Amino acid sequence: MANLKHEIERRRTFAIISHPDAGKTTLTEKFLLYGGAIQTAGSVKGKATAKHAVSDWMELEKQRGISITSSVMQFEYDGYCINILDTPGHQDFSEDTYRTLMAADSVVMVIDAAKGIEAQTRKLFKVCARRHIPIFTFINKLDREARDPFELLDELEKEFGIGTYPVNWPIGCGVSFKGVFDRDKREILSFSDLHKGQNKIKPTPCDITDIAKLDELIGEYQRAELVDQIELLDGASFEFDLEKVRCGELSPVFFGSALTNFGVEQFLENFLKMTTSPLPRVSGDTVVDPFDEEFSAFAFKIQANMNKNHRDRITFFRICSGKFERGADYFHVQAGKPVRLSQPQQMMAEERQIINEAYAGDIIGVFDPGIYSIGDTVCSPKKKILFEGIPTFAPEHFAMIEQTDSLKRKQFVKGVEQIAQEGAIQIFHEPNTGMERVIVGVVGVLQFEVLEYRLKNEYNVDVTRNNLSYQFIRWVKNKNIDIKKLNLTSDTKWVQDFKGNDLLIFTSEWNINWALERNEGLILEDFSTD
Ligand code: G4P
Repeated sequence: MANLKHEIERRRTFAIISHPDAGKTTLTEKFLLYGGAIQTAGSVKGKATAKHAVSDWMELEKQRGISITSSVMQFEYDGYCINILDTPGHQDFSEDTYRTLMAADSVVMVIDAAKGIEAQTRKLFKVCARRHIPIFTFINKLDREARDPFELLDELEKEFGIGTYPVNWPIGCGVSFKGVFDRDKREILSFSDLHKGQNKIKPTPCDITDIAKLDELIGEYQRAELVDQIELLDGASFEFDLEKVRCGELSPVFFGSALTNFGVEQFLENFLKMTTSPLPRVSGDTVVDPFDEEFSAFAFKIQANMNKNHRDRITFFRICSGKFERGADYFHVQAGKPVRLSQPQQMMAEERQIINEAYAGDIIGVFDPGIYSIGDTVCSPKKKILFEGIPTFAPEHFAMIEQTDSLKRKQFVKGVEQIAQEGAIQIFHEPNTGMERVIVGVVGVLQFEVLEYRLKNEYNVDVTRNNLSYQFIRWVKNKNIDIKKLNLTSDTKWVQDFKGNDLLIFTSEWNINWALERNEGLILEDFSTD
């Protein structure tokens, strides 16, 4: 029991988010280097040239030189056991990216100092905010020209409606980047020390009142600027409040440069102290304590078809309480059946390993013969619980898919339904029509290609795809409403999902507003928990 408590307490499970190119991979890599989990930089992500470290399972991934599915990495640092959930970016952005956030206890948001908040970060932030996940901000690339730090903080506060607390403050940027001032410890971490080849840069204690020392360290001009800025911050910015951090209302902000490894260790150390060990999860009216001895977990991601010859897949579970033991008897709540979780595995930076045990906070991938759906609960048979499902998020791209050979209808329906069950796509149909034609909705356009590829390779079905001009979908939350009587623009379409929920798809936000303004009491939502 003491061991269980110790193991869970030292776990930290977080997702890392950013807009492509802000430096997420570089920062992750530096974390792993600190943890000794990898030996060389360049081994985390399979960009065009680098090795596919984590998920080279699907042919398509290999062909495209990208990693489609988000990956999980575990490493040890300073007594902590850290689980990083990577979120796919670029065009491989998918609903998986959102769902990964459901499995994290906190989020590290990487922002390019020259660009500020960008589209993808905005989308991901919305999902974090809905769950009140603590958000830690790393403003990256200070070794390059950057925007004014006050302006960046202002943007975060205004756009995201949260407070910010800069833990450190940059002294210049680009060619005149001198380092950062640590506001709590009142010390300077000097960028020039980095180039002396030290493994760990030693900060120099130096408060802003020590003018002579500051002048020596950063020069008179930058000293004057720093003193003004720190006085302003100390007087006018939010005060540090750990409670607010932990409920996602205040984001601690760090400035640094991941590429040059500047400020990364300080970030990691502060972050690990400020963030929490695994948080309790809600199951109906009860809250499941991670330290409870009985095992429980929920599925947040399904990765299909690692072996083309078998329709097997790996389902990823986030452990919510207790300890997982290989070979133990568990209970799959949705199926109402006992299960063994076979071939349990974890990603240790570069490789997959079969594991014998894991604890609350950890992510395990298990062999799945097609029995799990996203959001399913698996738990100890002694204490059966049911976790709240994972919301379905609104797709943004739509296409009409039809099979080319009508004799293959059965395979087509099976394929589309199975792929939808894994959560890779969402399927809709026009009311009162069958399954000859389905409307497929995806969060990232690459999923269309994945769908076509998989239908052909796994189900032997060719399809034609017609992209539709819709961009927005909303679940109609009103019960007993007659959709046909709604006053809608002519290009708004009524569809249903396969649970029978009514939805409207729109070509523009203007059309959504039209619907809301002209139909009093209409409730539209961009996610669904039904
Ligand atoms: P991502 O995962 O968020 O998409 O970003 P990634 O880490 O791949 O970084 C994107 C580019 O930005 C990379 O350059 C990377 O080297 C660079 N970068 C990351 N952090 C910093 C930083 O602190 N300072 C500077 N100056 N650059 C940084 P690239 O040329 O696109 O790729 P590569 O050839 O270096 O891999």
